[in-house]
Order: sequence, then C-alpha cells, then structure tokens
Amino acid sequence: MPESRGVIFTGEPDLGHLYTTLRRRFREAQISTPDLDARLLVTETLDVTTTQLIANPRMAVDADQVAELERRAQERLAGRSIGRILGRRAFWSLDLRVTDDTLEPRPETETVVELALAALATPDAPALVADLGVGTGAILLSILSERLGAHGVGVDISFKALIEARRNAERHNLDHRAMFVQANFGSALAQQFDLVVSNPPYITTDDIAGLDRAVRDFDPLLALDGGEDGLNAYRVVFTHAQHMLRPGGTLVVEIDPAARDAVIAEAERRGLEVETVADDLNGDARAVSLRRGMV
Ligand SMILES: C[S@@+](CC[C@H](N)C(=O)[O-])C[C@H]1O[C@@H](n2cnc3c(N)ncnc32)[C@H](O)[C@@H]1O
Repeated sequence: MPESRGVIFTGEPDLGHLYTTLRRRFREAQISTPDLDARLLVTETLDVTTTQLIANPRMAVDADQVAELERRAQERLAGRSIGRILGRRAFWSLDLRVTDDTLEPRPETETVVELALAALATPDAPALVADLGVGTGAILLSILSERLGAHGVGVDISFKALIEARRNAERHNLDHRAMFVQANFGSALAQQFDLVVSNPPYITTDDIAGLDRAVRDFDPLLALDGGEDGLNAYRVVFTHAQHMLRPGGTLVVEIDPAARDAVIAEAERRGLEVETVADDLNGDARAVSLRRGMV
C-alpha cells in the first residue's frame, strides 16, 4: 500500500486493529455514527461476522482485503454513505440495491409504508398500487411484500432508476406483481388505482447547497429538487392523482415536516381530503394520507 498522509492502515494489521483504527479515524472525522460505520465496513468487506470481530481480533487479514477496506474507508471519509459504498441498503424488511442513479432510501420513508399498509387493511385482498417516483422501489416493493394480493406499477422519469427498481423486484421475487414505466409521474397511467404512493423530490432549490454532503453530492439531483418552493412535484402528483385514484382511493405522500401545511393546502385545492398525518420515529410529521371523495 503506498505511504501517504491520508493512508489509514499500515503494516500488517489484524482484524481487531483494522476495526479500532477505522473507528478512531471515523470519530476524528466526526462521522455521525463512527462505530457502526466502522463495524459495517469491516464485517462486509472482510466477510466476517460481528461475533468473529469480537471473538477473534487477532485474525490475520490478507493484503488485498486490507487494500479494499482502505479504498472503501477513504470513500466514507470523502462523504459517501455506507449504503452507497456497499451498494445496498436495508429498508422495511428488504435488502435493496442502491446505485448512483437512485436515492438511497431513508428510514423516515417507512412512515409512508405504514400509512399505505393501513389503507390496504386486508392482507390478501386484490389491490392495484402505483408508486410515482419509485427510485429503488423501496416503497412499492415493501407494500407488495406485505400485501400478497396487490399488484403495482412503479413510475420514474429516470430509466436507470427503473432498472434498479426492477432488479430489486427480482431480487425479492416480487417482479411477477410489479411493472415499471418511464413517465412524468402519473401522466402515462390510464388505470384506476386503489392506492397511489409518492415520495417526490421536495427540497427547495435554494436549500440543496446546504444539504449534508452525503445527500448533496451523492443522491441524484432529480430525486431532490422540488423547485423554488419545494412543491412542484406535489402539484403534478396531486393533479394526476385526481384521475388515477378510484373513488374512495388513497394517496400517501412523504413530506418535509416544515412543508406540512403548504402540501396539505395544495392537495385540498385539488379535491383531496386529508385522512391522517403520521410522524416518523423522530416525532416529525413525515407522511400524509389523502382520500379522493366517493364521487
Ligand atoms: C425522493 S426520490 C424517492 C425514491 C423512492 N421512492 C424512495 O422513497 O426512496 C424521488 C424520485 O422521483 C423521481 N422523479 C423525479 N421527477 C420525476 C418525474 N417528473 N416523474 C417521475 N419520477 C420523477 C426521481 O428520479 C426519484 O427516483
């Protein structure tokens, strides 16, 4: 390994030394979860379990693996998230592939899944679901994994994101109940849906520069930018939902907690009625379910 100022590992470190060195380096760099990130990178890169890490710290590690760990650790120090470095991320009960073309799914988005499942209360009943801005497939595939009678359409403007969503559907044996369409939100869908879900881009254009580096520099801009007031995509989604939802059908959207009232006003202007506003695990309003009236 070349000697340079930034090199993390030198000599022939054993398993325990690799972990403690990395943890210290991540702490010094003020990474928000240094111990967890160090453990994940070490165990995933060296293909060892956490138990082995604790029980067998003297284990020898070959030079190629140390080099790969060094490469990944440097990526983390440069701001890439662990999910992006490993190319996968846990969401709901699924392990999802994540690439540079997809937003990395966030734990807060599970609030959307909870409201969606509440709208499809009978587990095996047939239902048609659309996810507008499907990304990795996180929301749609979580719903399909829980509602075995449901079929879904995932829409994205990004063809590359759709490729990943399809791969994730195949990976979880959900592809026979999911299809994927490249379109501007609901513009290409003529069916009536029982449930429409969306986590649209909702960061105001001016706020993007101030986002955390892992988001600003690595999530696709297309997945973030909601325009001048952050509401551009909602206006389109709400307008499309008017014709996409069957009477009595439900739309669930993720929101920025600060935009709660503004999002609700846009929805009500288009004839959608608020049913529930749900908080995420931090106690922030994160998802809204809306109903199309029975007419
Ligand atoms: C915030 S991400 C959500 C991704 C995924 N649903 C999730 O929750 O992790 C928004 C997604 O909307 C897509 N998108 C942006 N503009 C779109 C448009 N006009 N029509 C369809 N999809 C769009 C982006 O490509 C991105 O995948």
